[in-house]
Amino acid sequence: MINNKIPKDFVPQPIEHKSFLIGGQIKKWDGPQQEVISTISTTDDYKPTYLGSYPELTKEEALDALDAACKAYDMGKGVWPTMRTKDRIACMEEFASQMQTKRNEIVKLLMWEIGKSLPDSEKEFDRTVQYVYDTIEDYKNIDRDAAKFEQYEGVNAHIRRGPLGVVLCLGPYNYPLNEAFALLIPAILMGNTVIYKPAKLGVLLITPLLEAFASSFPAGVVNIVFGRGRVLASPIMETGKVDVLALIGNSKSANALQESHPKKNRLRLVLGLEAKNPAVIMPDADLDLTVKECVSGSLSFNGQRCTALKVIYVHQDIRDAFLEKYTKAVDQLKFGNPWEEGSFLTPLPEADKPDYIQELIDDATAKGAKILNQKGGERFDNYIWPAVLYPVTKDMRVYQEEQFGPVVPILSFTDIETPLNDMAESNYGQQVSLFGSDVNTLAPLIDTFVNLVCRVNLNSACQRGPDIYPFTGRKDSAVATLSVHDALRSFSIRTFVASKDSEANNKILNDLIESRASNFINTDYIL
Ligand code: G3H
Repeated sequence: MINNKIPKDFVPQPIEHKSFLIGGQIKKWDGPQQEVISTISTTDDYKPTYLGSYPELTKEEALDALDAACKAYDMGKGVWPTMRTKDRIACMEEFASQMQTKRNEIVKLLMWEIGKSLPDSEKEFDRTVQYVYDTIEDYKNIDRDAAKFEQYEGVNAHIRRGPLGVVLCLGPYNYPLNEAFALLIPAILMGNTVIYKPAKLGVLLITPLLEAFASSFPAGVVNIVFGRGRVLASPIMETGKVDVLALIGNSKSANALQESHPKKNRLRLVLGLEAKNPAVIMPDADLDLTVKECVSGSLSFNGQRCTALKVIYVHQDIRDAFLEKYTKAVDQLKFGNPWEEGSFLTPLPEADKPDYIQELIDDATAKGAKILNQKGGERFDNYIWPAVLYPVTKDMRVYQEEQFGPVVPILSFTDIETPLNDMAESNYGQQVSLFGSDVNTLAPLIDTFVNLVCRVNLNSACQRGPDIYPFTGRKDSAVATLSVHDALRSFSIRTFVASKDSEANNKILNDLIESRASNFINTDYIL
């Protein structure tokens, strides 16, 4: 099924990574290592590929990382939280320029560690670099708006956004670079100090950046630890010293970590969690466009996206035509290794994922659903072909669970209240895709959908980007908002200096500005 010819540039060389970053120092580790095995095979007889290993750190290193982050924040007195905006930006620019030199290494590892196609891996890298620069630009704007005094009822105020403190950052395996950095970059730039633990997959690809983190920021601002979440993250939270939990991933881990923090009101949350985004297809939808968007929405990166279309509601009047075209399109998709030209479906990076998807299919078919596409459910070494399941009912696991993989549940409806009620009942509320053309039908739906989810995609698949738009969700899908702009707000708090409008106070303010003695009180306009 797979062409094993690997282009020279993409042949993996095992990486035995034996260091981590704490307090500005890249420390050596000679303890146990966690092996990294790719589900991609390099041989004709299927055999997973050994990619290398990374440190399996213990509670002790986790707490050292926390201490380093606390020391760098130093109760708000640290060099980083008190630094002028333009100086923090200079550090971030230095980091971004070093990061760009690692593109080839990171793109190659994205393919091997998580099976992402070459174009998508390149896009993930480039999009992340762009995210860093866009965040810097936005921060300049925030700073420009704050470069002034306000006066109201005889009180002068100089209002800025300040850091929150120590941030624990945990990202997901499907976007191990982009989503982790969408948390890390704004958190760091706003003056917080961070402890970052990469996801369960996509760990080696972070290692080429250790040096850039260490040399671009003051000691302890960024601390990077490797190992198991339960061993590292839980003890850090239990100390009660974390001010922000920034996590994109599973709500079970998020809940457990929140629970273990003893000071609930201190802990701010920035969370991106599960979603079950529906497509709702009206009878007057443009069929070809709808099929194209539903294929990419449900199956790009094998459906392993939080924004993926995870359930499709099709109106009875267009059902047969849609199912016929959609199932054909799914069977025509190309499966291949990530670097192979045109590979749309790629190996699943979690070795047990095909079995899980199989369980969902078996459960659904036992309860009356059929696999509509010929190739649906075909198993081979590291994959299971996307099964298009219809008719799906609410008692099926594939309806209830976030499948995060290649299986597509479809339901039909005659009354729009059916998908509306299901969305209202759902635990999730990230996005919806609405397909149709009649304005009079679409208008009331749009007006309702916007109150059930946080983005209504008209005649297009759900997606996070462009990153300047707000990315969030209702109910169990998210806490806080992550756009370029909103993330800077999510990782900061408004804080200000107020003084009564008296001659003596105003002289102090003028002297503070002219002497440039304070980094907070300043009216510099960053160009
Ligand atoms: O996994 C969730 C990602 O934020 C989805 O991003 O819509 O750009 O694929 P995307």
